[in-house]
Amino acid sequence: MGKITAAITAIGGYVPEKKLTNFDLEKMVDTSDEWIISRTGVKERRILDIPGLATSDMAMHAVNELLQKRGISALDIDLLIVGTVTGDMIFPSTANIVCDKVGAKNAWSFDVAAACSGFLYSLEIGSKYIESGKYKKVVVCGCDKMSAITDYTDRNTCIIFGDGGGAVLLEPNEDGYGVIDTILKSDGSGREFLHQKAGGSLKPPTHETIDAREHYVYQEGKTVFKFATTNMADVSTKIMERNGLTADDVTYLLAHQANKRIIDYTAEKMNLPSEKVLMNIERYGNTTSGTLPLLFWDFEKLFKKGDNLILASFGGGFTWGSIYIKWAYDSPSN
Ligand code: UT7
Repeated sequence: MGKITAAITAIGGYVPEKKLTNFDLEKMVDTSDEWIISRTGVKERRILDIPGLATSDMAMHAVNELLQKRGISALDIDLLIVGTVTGDMIFPSTANIVCDKVGAKNAWSFDVAAACSGFLYSLEIGSKYIESGKYKKVVVCGCDKMSAITDYTDRNTCIIFGDGGGAVLLEPNEDGYGVIDTILKSDGSGREFLHQKAGGSLKPPTHETIDAREHYVYQEGKTVFKFATTNMADVSTKIMERNGLTADDVTYLLAHQANKRIIDYTAEKMNLPSEKVLMNIERYGNTTSGTLPLLFWDFEKLFKKGDNLILASFGGGFTWGSIYIKWAYDSPSN
């Protein structure tokens, strides 16, 4: 029997229908389509603006899609993990709620809070449960309703974020496909540059915190940008080196969609031509934990068995990392 690795065997995704374009934002804050495109690469983002719907509803759609594609029942899921910073409630976990909504009655579940690295962290955790041999079907979601914590009077942040996410199914593989190597990092001293000031146990909600708009994302963009470029490039090149991968060997880079300039910098350090760099930031903006699964969802049709995919992310915490995947199946359209 070969070593067990965790292979992605199905993908689901979801974005809300409502679009918020740069031209819409021009009417809300002092900005321009040209500035946003040139500084970030974003043209429009999706917004979940239907009252009563939350992160769990988007994850539910994504999970239902992957179950249908794989031809299995929600009852087959052993474990479901949701990477998110915009859970439906402070507690219980959104993963618990998603299991209820999809009918995963045999699964246990929990959330992972690692901001923009939420999916990457969750993928590492889910893989280890598969590798243990005990769990056969693990669903890993990355989903965020960033519009719930975005201040639409703050031009520094509201132009970046959007809502959406996706999910992947992990199953055991004994032929060397799936998650091959991972590098994951965190540095809590970076928290001051990207965080939500109030609502947690440090600063519970009060009238004052609401008046001071402290329940929204706060970001010192320039500083985060500096750390994001250097750290994401560092782990992505390291994972290539230690797995003996040259730029020719890498089929695609799937990087967190926070800013096109950060992704371009990382790709340049990896010596990757632009056709190997998957991007959908122009359509969805930064969906935090949602960006990587949305890349899988959008570009699944390109993937062939044996492709070498490099994932990379950087986000609040700071949290960052890179994962090397050997893709396990030819997509139906190949
Ligand atoms: O996903 C988690 C991790 N997050 C990230 O990776 C995000 C990292 N940071 C960034 O992507 C960028 O820093 C931003 C997109 C947030 C900002 O871009 P920037 O090129 O770093 O702009 P800046 O903050 O340095 O601001 C440059 C100028 C300033 O004007 P002055 O002081 O030079 O006159 C800003 O006031 O641009 C101004 N500015 C804007 N102008 C038009 C800031 N936001 C806007 C805006 N529209 N929306």
